[in-house]
Amino acid sequence: MRIYCGFVDTSQIGQTIALYGWVDSLRELGHLQFILLRDREGVVQVTANSEKIEPELFSRVKALNLDACVRISGTVRKREAAHVNPTMKTGTVEVDLETLEVLNPCQPLPFTIVDDVKASEELRLKYRYLDLRRPRMQEVFRLRHLAAQKTREYLAAQGFWEIETPIQTRSTPEGARDFLVPSRLQKGKFYALPQSPQLFKQLSMVAGFDRYFQIARCFRDEDLRADRQLEFTQIDIEASFIDEPFIYDLVEGLLVEVFRVNAIELPRPFPRLTYAEAMGRYGSDKPDLRVDLEIFPLAGTAPETVGEESHALHLPGAALSRKQLDDLVARGKAAGLEKTATIKWEGGAGKSPLAKFWGDGTLAAVKGLLNAADGDLTVVITGPRGKVLTFLGGLRLEFGKALNRFKEGWKPLWITDFPLMEWNADEGRWDACHHPFTSPRPEHLDRLESDPGAVMARAYDVVLNGYELGGGSIRIHRPDIQSKVFSAIGITPEQAREKFGFLLDALQYGAPPHGGLALGFDRLVMLLAGLDSIRDCIPFPKTTSGSCLLTAAPSAVDERQLKELGLQLRKE
Ligand code: AMO
Repeated sequence: MRIYCGFVDTSQIGQTIALYGWVDSLRELGHLQFILLRDREGVVQVTANSEKIEPELFSRVKALNLDACVRISGTVRKREAAHVNPTMKTGTVEVDLETLEVLNPCQPLPFTIVDDVKASEELRLKYRYLDLRRPRMQEVFRLRHLAAQKTREYLAAQGFWEIETPIQTRSTPEGARDFLVPSRLQKGKFYALPQSPQLFKQLSMVAGFDRYFQIARCFRDEDLRADRQLEFTQIDIEASFIDEPFIYDLVEGLLVEVFRVNAIELPRPFPRLTYAEAMGRYGSDKPDLRVDLEIFPLAGTAPETVGEESHALHLPGAALSRKQLDDLVARGKAAGLEKTATIKWEGGAGKSPLAKFWGDGTLAAVKGLLNAADGDLTVVITGPRGKVLTFLGGLRLEFGKALNRFKEGWKPLWITDFPLMEWNADEGRWDACHHPFTSPRPEHLDRLESDPGAVMARAYDVVLNGYELGGGSIRIHRPDIQSKVFSAIGITPEQAREKFGFLLDALQYGAPPHGGLALGFDRLVMLLAGLDSIRDCIPFPKTTSGSCLLTAAPSAVDERQLKELGLQLRKE
């Protein structure tokens, strides 16, 4: 009977079992040879006793190499009390070796397969299949599997159908560059890999599927970071005849269930913050609420000039040296925020270069507003709102760490009331904040042309511990409104027809009101497993320069293949 190494226990004492696994370590003690054997479920100790087995078998045990793949059979025995290992799941038992078959020997390893592996990430990614053998990695991918299973179970129970959408498709605008695939049958034409299944899930609503989900692979050619990959997975959701509260309820329930697979209890209901409030109080649209530091507006307390706002980040007990204070001010200036200043609170008053502009009255008023005490520090910046808040938001996180103001735990929240569009100064046009299929608030429709920046969207993000876990919106389901929004973001009717004609057509055939959301599944698993990079929870990830070090992709292709595709490389 085959038993996973990690599942051997006292219930099998006296039984002969078969183990399949990899040699984790070898140790010799007189006439005994101990093998720790590893598989995905754990490690068990196998003992070979030269006084009980044939010399030929014993010498084969001694000749084993680390990570050789073996089949061992033996009898489960209770360990003597003195040999019980309480740190091992299987530490009360061991297996007396009776047969050994080396299924495949193992070359000397490029690094030792232990959780606190010393090898560089580069080397680990080159031999990712060995890196993945580490117990911690096996645990991460177990959690990933369980999270996917729980998602399917939960959504299916709520009446959602799992529906696949094409990978070879047309561009879906989610704000990144497309990956293109040349067509051999139609030379000179390209498929785009989907940045998300956005349009197909909307078309699924027009098709009457009513409730759709997919654990979908998405492709975005964008700059990589610890929480971004070129190829990533979404839990993608869409439903008809629903409003925002349906999505909040559905997604909160889903996340609570999914986090339970790792015994994490998310607090529910998730609080909601408007985008303006999140920016104002935390300087971020994905605030980490584990940090108990806040930004305060000084409007009405300190003087402001037109087009500029003053905001203060208050840092209780921040004892910074003269040099640290100067560095902080210099960083503000380097970020283009000339009016960056600090206030040191001591002797019941504030010491600050601002005193000469503000006067003591204002300093005292600010002290009252911030409830400042001796030993505290306040950073005050005056400048364009967005820039000031974003900078202070960065400092908030930094000081949250430095001043030990991070509280352990789970802080999910919704961000609501996003603007529909934002001004793209580089291109001189309005861009959709979420995507162009997001519905404006109906009462703001008449501002689309006159005051585009003041139109609010029916969009929402779900944030957890400072990460944007997901985002979505109620969609536009009427072709006339969709055309208006296209035109507001500078897409001409001809371009709209060319790119999204199929959507505009579909909206004319009784498209139901609908909306949805997508969760970043890799980010979700990263948080669930307590990791800080999504590379660690993607089995075969890419480096920041987009390489797969294991297969050496991307790679050159031969001339014949290019010719077949009707392509020719340009010599730059
Ligand atoms: P959005 O672009 O906000 O929305 O993506 C949804 C979520 O996907 C994750 N995500 C990523 N994860 C890893 N690597 C990336 N490069 C990456 N980009 C995004 C994030 C993000 O919150 N179609 C819409 C959803 C909708 O409107 O329903 C969309 O894709 O966690």
